[in-house]
Amino acid sequence: MFDPRHLRDAFGTFLTGVTVVACREGNGTPRGFTANSFTSVSLNPPLLLICVDRSAESFDVFTNSDGFAVNILTEDQAHLADLFASKRPDKFEIARWREGRMGCPILEGVCAWFECKRNMTLEAGDHVIIVGEIQHYGSTDSIGLGYVRGGYMSLGLERSAAKAAGNGFHVVVGAIIEHEGRILLYEDEKSGELYVPASGLDGEKGSLQKFQSDMQAQGIRLTVSSLFAVFENEENEQQSIYYRAFAESVGSRGGDFRTFGEIPWDRICNHAVKTMVHRYVSESGRHRFGIYFGSDRDGSVETLVK
Ligand SMILES: Cc1cc2nc3c(=O)[nH]c(=O)nc-3n(C[C@H](O)[C@H](O)[C@H](O)COP(=O)(O)O)c2cc1C
Repeated sequence: MFDPRHLRDAFGTFLTGVTVVACREGNGTPRGFTANSFTSVSLNPPLLLICVDRSAESFDVFTNSDGFAVNILTEDQAHLADLFASKRPDKFEIARWREGRMGCPILEGVCAWFECKRNMTLEAGDHVIIVGEIQHYGSTDSIGLGYVRGGYMSLGLERSAAKAAGNGFHVVVGAIIEHEGRILLYEDEKSGELYVPASGLDGEKGSLQKFQSDMQAQGIRLTVSSLFAVFENEENEQQSIYYRAFAESVGSRGGDFRTFGEIPWDRICNHAVKTMVHRYVSESGRHRFGIYFGSDRDGSVETLVK
């Protein structure tokens, strides 16, 4: 038997979009839950599927309902993903929605929506696969919200970072690397100062690719998760870009991973890096990560939740 937590983490490496699946109970009450198990299945006939957990409160409602709608969330609708993943009874009083032609709830401002007739229900372990035949749909050119390793991500914000890197400053690219609840900090042997690993600190232009291969050479195989901070230092004309990353494996030369409680804050090399690591520690507790844009002194954190 596999360790369920470990297996869930392995599944979580697959980057998906996020949807809200919604239907009406027999008495007309709207019901909905957040789902990333959405898959497009067939064009002809037009089919899609979603998987419903047997332990979901709305399990019976969905497996018995004749129809349902799948709403694909945009990158600024993470608050709706959270709302519909909760057990709140007032989900449809908070979210703005309208009724589709079949009566299913269509959320306002979504990337795309599909109103379906239930076509098939397949038993699948602790979930049930519901296949829907699309009756009506609509789509826009908005960018969808992403989900990976238990956190939301936004391609739009990632792109702003890429643009920011084109300002002619010297580029440093690094990551806060986590492994089993610890993060990697390197120590400068002479000064004893601690650094978050990055490429470009040696004076050569940093890049994500270079950073990943530098880490690989240290015996650390990385999965980069999402952008975490973009800041510039006007004085030394340096642009820093830091991501969140996970070490899949850590070789013997893997550096010094420390638990959050073991971080010697006063030895962190500079104010900007200290603030960044501090934010990482506090956001980890809430499983919600923002992206910092600004200078090494002043800026703002953009979050995916309004
Ligand atoms: C990003 C994300 C994706 C999820 N995907 C699914 C899914 O595909 N199927 C599922 O049954 N639950 C999924 N869940 C969990 C449900 O949204 C959550 O259990 C919800 O409370 C169910 O609502 P209910 O118990 O009121 O029916 C997901 C949650 C999140 C945050």
